[in-house]
Amino acid sequence: MNEDLIVCQDITKRFPLPGGKGEFTAVRGISLLVRGGELLALLGRSGSGKSTLLRIMAGLIPPSAGVVISSGRPLNGPNPDVAMVFQSFALLPWLTVLQNVELGLEARGVGPAEREQRALRMIDLVGLDGFESSYPKELSGGMKQRVGYARALAVEPKVLFMDEPFSALDVLTAENLRGEIDALWNAGSFPSQSILLVTHNIEEAVLLADRVLVLGSNPGHIRGEITIDLPRPHDRKASRFKELVDYLYQVMTNPAADVSFETVHHPVPAVVSPFSKPLPHVRIGGISGLLEILSKKPDESIEIAVLADRLAVSPDDLLAILEAEVSLGFAQTVAGRVALTDVGREFARATILRSKEIFREQLLKCIPIFETMVKTLEACPDGDISAEFFLDLWDEHFPAEEAQRQLATAVDWGRYAELFEYDSVTEQLHLPEPAPVQT
Ligand SMILES: Nc1ncnc2c1ncn2[C@@H]1O[C@H](COP(=O)(O)OP(=O)(O)OP(=O)(O)O)[C@@H](O)[C@H]1O
Ligand SMILES: [Mg+2]
Repeated sequence: MNEDLIVCQDITKRFPLPGGKGEFTAVRGISLLVRGGELLALLGRSGSGKSTLLRIMAGLIPPSAGVVISSGRPLNGPNPDVAMVFQSFALLPWLTVLQNVELGLEARGVGPAEREQRALRMIDLVGLDGFESSYPKELSGGMKQRVGYARALAVEPKVLFMDEPFSALDVLTAENLRGEIDALWNAGSFPSQSILLVTHNIEEAVLLADRVLVLGSNPGHIRGEITIDLPRPHDRKASRFKELVDYLYQVMTNPAADVSFETVHHPVPAVVSPFSKPLPHVRIGGISGLLEILSKKPDESIEIAVLADRLAVSPDDLLAILEAEVSLGFAQTVAGRVALTDVGREFARATILRSKEIFREQLLKCIPIFETMVKTLEACPDGDISAEFFLDLWDEHFPAEEAQRQLATAVDWGRYAELFEYDSVTEQLHLPEPAPVQT
């Protein structure tokens, strides 16, 4: 069962930038294996190219460079070994549960009688017995996701791809479904040989996977691989479980850190322009909110896994806040805990006026684009410039929508720090008016 089912060799994917402005590299130089009998997780932040990679391995889009080999054959179109479960369910509203489940079989040329028989078996397996004639609108989110599983599994794929299958469900439903998948898998009664799970939820990866590949961003690449060396089912209460979760939090909140269990190195090219390093999209309130929580803790630190539970933010949002804190020098992550730095402590306890000052100093010291933006403004005759000028610099590194978001975040942070002002009518950035001189 341990043969290599899917092999990716040096996969790169580039997308054209809108307006013919060159290309955007979504993933670069990715090599990986999906082995028979394993549950492999791809763990990465939003935009690290997880879905792109899945689509390439499923043969839905071709790579720009590199090859995918599935069951020993180079892929050249849709991958017959793979079926996919989507985050968004992707059910056809005008078809019943049974008809939705039969879709994949129909596409693969299975005749009507066998189609119905296999579909009914899968509907039973996922616990939807009795709902065969219901329509998607009559089902809850969790039930819709079950239909998605039944549809994917009915074709008996060698590998089941799951792209963030639990993230659109409420916490309880997600937890139930996760547990059921785990139980089916552990009992050896799962209809596919391997599972490839895409997630940005660290606990989910450690709970379900035998092996976790950690992806980095800009462009998407593999940072390293971690084996979940726990007996199945993975016990959340085991100290090793917590160790692995803590370790992954540390790795995920320090994009530059080495993943030390690493088996393959994929060097990332040196950053050339400061505008190629993305700002995490975090509001000032998120940054100061976390610092406030930390400053109230006796030792000014908290276990990240605990924090994820306590704050009502998604794991991805929490990681973005942590990344912002770390890159601004307000916090550091050590051994799965996040702790205040001296500057962070000062910020948390300062008056509003002083905290703006500290924020300004840290922006100029730690995040090079702010110094570049201020210097550019100072060099302009009237101290103002069209936001478009900076947008073009981000546009060289990101898709248009992400470039806009980068500008919005930079403006949000820069305004708070009173480094510059932004006029949303003229879309001009300008230096702040000098404070009136007291006489
Ligand atoms: N068809 C496309 N055209 C242009 N850019 C694309 C296309 N598909 C993806 N991208 C870009 O490639 C990058 C990786 O996207 P992808 O959806 O693979 O990330 P992801 O890791 O799945 O993120 P998420 O966790 O948000 O689902 C993103 O910057 C995205 O905007
Ligand atoms: Mg995705």
